[in-house]
Amino acid sequence: MIETKNLTRKFRNITAVDNISFNIEKGEVFGFLGPNGAGKTTTIRMLACLISPTEGTATVAGYDIRSDPTKVRESIGILTENPSLYERLTAYENMDFFAAAYGIKTSDERQQRIRELLDFFNLWDRRNDKVATFSKGMKQKLAIVRAIVHRPPVLFLDEPTAGLDPESAKEIRDLMFQLSQHEKRTILLCTHHLEDAEKLCKRVLIMNKGRCILTGSPNELRDKINPQPVLEIELTKVSSIVLNAIKNENYAKEVKVLDQENIIAVSVGDARVDTPKIVRTIVEAQGQILSVKLLRPSLEEAYLKLIKEGKQQ
Ligand SMILES: Nc1ncnc2c1ncn2[C@@H]1O[C@H](COP(=O)(O)OP(=O)(O)O)[C@@H](O)[C@H]1O
Ligand SMILES: [Mg+2]
Repeated sequence: MIETKNLTRKFRNITAVDNISFNIEKGEVFGFLGPNGAGKTTTIRMLACLISPTEGTATVAGYDIRSDPTKVRESIGILTENPSLYERLTAYENMDFFAAAYGIKTSDERQQRIRELLDFFNLWDRRNDKVATFSKGMKQKLAIVRAIVHRPPVLFLDEPTAGLDPESAKEIRDLMFQLSQHEKRTILLCTHHLEDAEKLCKRVLIMNKGRCILTGSPNELRDKINPQPVLEIELTKVSSIVLNAIKNENYAKEVKVLDQENIIAVSVGDARVDTPKIVRTIVEAQGQILSVKLLRPSLEEAYLKLIKEGKQQ
């Protein structure tokens, strides 16, 4: 649905986006991660035909951004970093204006669509209030409604949950999930909220200083920084018999008793293969297991480490 090839954009002496290539499948939520100034917004602006690339090219919904910008614009919805709405119009008037501008012809059709979306965000009751009276979160939700009102197959969402309270952020996450899963819309999501990326994205691209550092699934990212899984096993009591039994097994690469004294942390080669083995060893040594947990670094830890390594290079 989106395909970029060596996409590059220079601003005088800054290369904001440097030779970026990636593909996004239909219905995929693809995460764009990276620190401020990485080039995420510039990439989106090129794909949305708001600025042109210095080099390279891309297709969006099958249309070339260089030769078919009008078709591209018709196929996309975009939420920018600072979306502007008409503050002096009501929420409904704003949405009706944009729905008409995006080509939804009859007012019945517009009303049905606007109602459906405002209901989703619990804003229908506030439809006749001026946007100027809305909170930041409410404005953000309206800006998202505006971006999707015409049901575009491709969506560019630049930091949709930035600065929102957890509840509003969750509503927006739920909407993105629904748009991709049920409506098969393709979403390019720029975010600083790694929780969004973790919950929604099958794949992410990490950018820094215009370059792509890594593309992969959140799991691949985590494996990259911590290839050895750790099992934390909570017992009613850690006896020396249990401890020695585990230490004698060759699947256990490293065995530690944690401060709480009833938890053992065991580094293993492959959690799927080794978890049943370790459980058997403990039970045979008369240990009483309360829980077994596979520890993984959070996506945030992995991300921060990768960015730091990128800076050192
Ligand atoms: N219109 C512009 N003129 C000059 N420099 C720009 C312009 N837009 C972006 N840049 C520069 O390009 C780089 C990438 O910016 P941006 O794409 O906004 O990053 P991000 O969205 O990842 O924070 C930054 O160094 C920024 O200052
Ligand atoms: Mg940005």
